[in-house]
Amino acid sequence: MDAAKYIWMNGKFVSWDDAKVHVLSHTLHYGNGVIEGTKAYKTQKGYAIFRLNDHTKRLKESAKMTIMEIPYSVEELNKAQIELVAKNEFKGDNVYLRPFAFLGYGVMGVYHKHAPVETVVAAWEWGAYLGEEGMKKGIKLKIVSMSRPANTSNMGKAKAVANYLNSQMAKYEAIDCGYEEALLLDDQGYVAEASGASFFMVKNGVLITPPNDNSLESITQKTVIELATDMGIKVERRRLSREDVYVADEAFLTGTAAEITPVRHVDGRDIGCGARGEMTEKLQSKYFDVVFGRDKKYEHYLTYVN
Ligand SMILES: Cc1ncc(COP(=O)(O)O)c(C=O)c1O
Repeated sequence: MDAAKYIWMNGKFVSWDDAKVHVLSHTLHYGNGVIEGTKAYKTQKGYAIFRLNDHTKRLKESAKMTIMEIPYSVEELNKAQIELVAKNEFKGDNVYLRPFAFLGYGVMGVYHKHAPVETVVAAWEWGAYLGEEGMKKGIKLKIVSMSRPANTSNMGKAKAVANYLNSQMAKYEAIDCGYEEALLLDDQGYVAEASGASFFMVKNGVLITPPNDNSLESITQKTVIELATDMGIKVERRRLSREDVYVADEAFLTGTAAEITPVRHVDGRDIGCGARGEMTEKLQSKYFDVVFGRDKKYEHYLTYVN
C-alpha cells in the first residue's frame, strides 16, 4: 500500500505514521467496527468522489445496526473526506477512501456500550482491485466451502468488520485453489455475493443479479442496474443457484473496489467464451465514463473535491 500524507482521525488531520491505536482497543478483540470503501477518480475537473453521500450514509447506518454512535454527522464526514483527498495532493487516477469507526481503548469484555468510538478516514492511491489483466480478460471465480452466515446469526447489511472474517476465509480458499476470487452461497445454497463484491450474470440477453437477501446493499450494484436499465437492457433480480452460474453466457463482479470485473471461469467451467463478454464490456465502459465524469447524465453522483 502506498502511504499518503494525512489521515483524518477524530476531527483532526494527523500524519499517516501517527494514526495509531492502543493494542487493547475493543474492536481488535471483539470485532465491532464499521467500514466504508469509497472511491475518488481523477476527472477533467480534478478529483471527484463517486456517490459520496450514499457511502457515508451507509457507514452511519452500519454503525446504527451494530449499536455504535459515530459522533459526526453525514455532512461532517463528507467534508472530512473531501478535505482529505485535497490535502493529500494525490497524483494517480484512482484514490480509495476508507472511512471507518471502531471501538477504542478503555473497556474490556464483550459488552461494548461504554467503549469509546473512534472515527477515521484514510485514503490512498489504489488501482484495479482484481488486477489490470483481470479487468480486460476476466478472472477465475470459485464457489467456496464457506457460505454467508444465515440472517438469523449475521448482520450482512452492516458493512461490519466482523463480517470480513467470513470473506477473508472465502478469499483465502479461492486463491489457495488457484482462483482469483470467491463466490459465496447463502445458507439455502443460492448465490449471495463474492468476498468483497456483488455478482451479476447474463443469460439470453437478460442481466441477472440476486436480491440483497443475504448480502451487502451494494452501491455499485445499484448503479449498474440503473445504467443497464437506461441502456435498454432487461434486468432481473432473482435468486441464482450454482447451476445457473455454470451455464451463464457472461458473468461479472461489481463493487467500489472491483468496479466491473469480468468473470471468465467458475469452478472448472468456462463462462461463455471464457473471456470478457460483450455486455460486460459495454457496462464496464459506461461505468468508467460515469465515474470519470465523461457522462454528464450521471454527474449528480460525483462530488468534486476542488
Ligand atoms: C461483502 C461485500 N459485498 C459487496 C460489496 C460491494 O459494495 P459496493 O458496491 O457498495 O462497494 C462490497 C464492497 O464493499 C463488499 O465488501
